[in-house]
Amino acid sequence: MDRLLSLADAPGDGLRALLRLAARIKAEGPDPGLLAGRQVALLFLNPSLRTRTSMELAAASQGAHVVTLTPGADAWKVATERGVVMDGEEAEHLVDAARVLSDMVDLLGVRTFAGMRSFDADRGEPVLTTVAAESGVPVVNMESALDHPLQALADLLTLQEEIGEDLSGVPVTLTWAPHPKALPMAVAAAFLRGAARMGMDVRVAAPPKMSLPETLLGEARALLPGAGSITATDDQDAACRGARAVYAKAWAAPAQYGAPPQDVRAAQLAHRDWTIDERAMDLGDDAIFLHCLPVRRNMVVTDGVLDGPRSRVVAEAGNRLHTARAVLASILGGTR
Ligand code: CP
Repeated sequence: MDRLLSLADAPGDGLRALLRLAARIKAEGPDPGLLAGRQVALLFLNPSLRTRTSMELAAASQGAHVVTLTPGADAWKVATERGVVMDGEEAEHLVDAARVLSDMVDLLGVRTFAGMRSFDADRGEPVLTTVAAESGVPVVNMESALDHPLQALADLLTLQEEIGEDLSGVPVTLTWAPHPKALPMAVAAAFLRGAARMGMDVRVAAPPKMSLPETLLGEARALLPGAGSITATDDQDAACRGARAVYAKAWAAPAQYGAPPQDVRAAQLAHRDWTIDERAMDLGDDAIFLHCLPVRRNMVVTDGVLDGPRSRVVAEAGNRLHTARAVLASILGGTR
């Protein structure tokens, strides 16, 4: 693997091999000397708990040196738009930051959230593509406007641990959940891509005006290996019936982009009956509950589900470390 921007770029065989490597590292522990002498820079344009911790530990535990930078907090605030006249708060341009960091390190990770002003603009992944274009070293997407491949890898490893390595044809529900704010679609889109690559039967559930854009569903369908399916419904109960896993995630549909926060809140909270509770989980086939975290308790999911026996959210977050180790080992470990 020479970089990780999206699981859409990873052929099914490559993805399965990466997950096997993550499982092996989890079972046997990391090789503490594998990345000795390697330098990694992690650029966080948005906050993080799991991604930052897992990537820092994944690099350090395999012998690499890590520098984490948070522009606007401990590094210069960056402008991201190409061609912009920099007469505002930003002292540095992302282009220069990417060029300089990649001149010093062996791998560059970047996190940026969706702009959520235009779905088409977000689809262009402006920050990720700029960093990828300007970096002279491999780039890892630590969440971008419409993708989060590191999260999806951990999701898939968690499903494999529960169900088995072959996930083809396994029914899983990806359901919209209420939230007081407009959140990006990155996690949902990344999971769709990963699940499609594995040939799963994904039911995507959302209230009518909250559905994932057909373009995202269509792009994921194009990744199906011949097995599996991706279907959309506005019936959450039907989607949960018989599922082996229920993955809840809040997102804002493009129609909500740019809407006043109080309107977004009202539209989302009109669907409080979409909060995942034990009744919804009971519809599944001994289903496990997944969420990327952080999660709003008793909004996205009830305490009863989150703290109950079906919840795998802590294991799922823990798998972020093992899958991140596998990603760094695959990109940087094989050439030494
Ligand atoms: N799931 C996830 O990416 O968590 P953080 O935002 O804390 O990194």
